[in-house]
Amino acid sequence: MSERPPFGRPHRHLRLTDSTNERARALAQAGSPSGTVVTADEQDAGRGRHGRAWSAPAGAALLYSAILRPLDLRHGLLPLAVPLAVCEAVETLAPVSCRLKWPNDVWIDERKVAGVLIEARPPDWAVIGIGINLSIADGEFPGDLRWPAASVGHGATPGAAREALDAALGRWVEASHEVVLGKFAERDALRGREVRWEGGGEPPSGAGVAAGVDERGNLVVDLPGGGSTALGSGEVSLRPG
Ligand code: BTN
Repeated sequence: MSERPPFGRPHRHLRLTDSTNERARALAQAGSPSGTVVTADEQDAGRGRHGRAWSAPAGAALLYSAILRPLDLRHGLLPLAVPLAVCEAVETLAPVSCRLKWPNDVWIDERKVAGVLIEARPPDWAVIGIGINLSIADGEFPGDLRWPAASVGHGATPGAAREALDAALGRWVEASHEVVLGKFAERDALRGREVRWEGGGEPPSGAGVAAGVDERGNLVVDLPGGGSTALGSGEVSLRPG
């Protein structure tokens, strides 16, 4: 049994907000408990990773931010545990199979259906921000996406997605490092593929073959000249061709 309260209690839903991560951050700073969830129909300043914007038509995506507190050593692999929870939640909504692009993009058939943005003030709290495309039509995605996007489809609604995510997240934030690494390896979409990276490694940019994730959650890349490097953050893309 988890000692923490389940995710989704309390739950605050907003019709329109700037960013659910921003609202959850304000609640965390004001002392809201672990498990607090903020959702919205629409954001006008949604945030993505690497300082990018994240946008979705009203009601067509789950826009979800949860407070986790306090943080301790068990949460070191949170960036990998959260997308595993998203995969599980999505797979309860539709007959689909999810894979992961390190560190935390969720793919269905090589198209991104969900993204994760964790903002934390360790050891006090983390805000786990999750956007899941549910019913966004192909023509409605922004034209400047770095990678093709898709929706879960199959009639998945924000309410059902929220409930599934509350439950899955509650399990995955408590998972052991061993379980997280094992399950991530099963869903790893990059392993064995040629990738290019910018930032987060040594050398700071380059290309090689993805070789899995190490015990600290870094992406290991085998280098063309021999040896390997471990990427802790930064941007990784598949090499074309
Ligand atoms: C990514 O770049 O892949 C991460 C996207 C995270 C978007 C979600 S939507 C709900 C929450 N609020 C935000 O402003 N961002 C996250």
